[in-house]
Amino acid sequence: MAEQKISIAYEHPDTAQTSCSTAHAWARKPREPEPAEKAELIARIKRLLKEQDAVLVSHYYVHPDLQDLAEATGGIVSDSLDMANFGHQHPAKTIVVAGVRFMGETAKILNPEKRVLMPDLEAECSLDLGCPIEEFAPFCDAHPDRVVVVYANTSAAVKARADWMVTSSIALPVVKHLHEQGKKILWAPDRHLGDYVQQQSGADMLLWQGSCIVHDEYKAKELQEMKAQHPGALVLVHPESPRAVIQQADVVGSTTQLIKAAQNAPNKEFIVATDNGILHKMRTLCPDKLFLEAPTAGRGANCTSCSHCPWMAMNGLLNLAEVLERGNNEIHVDPAFIPRAVLPIKRMLDFAKQINLPTRGIGNA
Ligand code: 13P
Ligand code: SF4
Repeated sequence: MAEQKISIAYEHPDTAQTSCSTAHAWARKPREPEPAEKAELIARIKRLLKEQDAVLVSHYYVHPDLQDLAEATGGIVSDSLDMANFGHQHPAKTIVVAGVRFMGETAKILNPEKRVLMPDLEAECSLDLGCPIEEFAPFCDAHPDRVVVVYANTSAAVKARADWMVTSSIALPVVKHLHEQGKKILWAPDRHLGDYVQQQSGADMLLWQGSCIVHDEYKAKELQEMKAQHPGALVLVHPESPRAVIQQADVVGSTTQLIKAAQNAPNKEFIVATDNGILHKMRTLCPDKLFLEAPTAGRGANCTSCSHCPWMAMNGLLNLAEVLERGNNEIHVDPAFIPRAVLPIKRMLDFAKQINLPTRGIGNA
């Protein structure tokens, strides 16, 4: 149903001249290929993936073409936990990660013997950038009585300093488990997810004050107004959003969990507070439902309030084809970090298995 696709035009700064800190990322967003070129690129990528024994692992926030291509070629599109697990289980010699750098690094840490490629190595994450190891290590040193739990959206060095790594889909069960054991927690870097987990678990948590530039922009007052205009809508919120937004949610969860909620709920309307890249999968799986973007700063918004991650936007068909052809953009993680950084990641994957948390989420549309 065409009228269900509401697209809002935002202005993205396309040069590094503006004061916006993400202008550099938007400037690297690959151009949209023409239809004929697109078909040729897709065919070329399919051939290259086979030739190079490579599997494409995409996140729900990247361009729809890369999401569809991952599924069409035996890879996956999913959330961070599923991406890590899938790449680890898959026999391919090369993992191509369409997402942001911490996702590529996690794949490399889990599979040091494999080649991990990314369309653009400068695809960052504000949470990772906001938690440099030089500041994080002394913070941990100052609180030796606390178990260090870090979000996946961190560097290899920060993971190597942690006891546990978690993603949004498993953060709450892990912290509940530690709390039941009487453990006090040092949490980094996302303050909103940390606050949500603390509220839900009652655990003693000391929070690093990082945030996601995309989710930080969802606005509570405007959401309230939108809900009033759409009383039948179910509100789906990613837990990187501010507390006042999360408090209005019907479902709080990882990207995969939010998509499952959209599939399973009887509602016909949804308000979605997470990167709008997710709407592609929601609309594909539920063509008879209406998905609305939760309000950010509204129309005419700037680079940090458009509901789309500028670093996820750096992934496209053009640079994916190029990276497969040239073998450039390989992820390297300092080998000194790998043996230590793999421990908190494996601890999470083992725990997910132990509690039967499904790591394979949605499946092909
Ligand atoms: P998910 O693990 O929920 O996909 O989240 C990853 C992320 O970066 C959200 O901003
Ligand atoms: Fe990081 Fe936010 Fe982008 Fe996710 S959406 S990769 S948390 S900046």
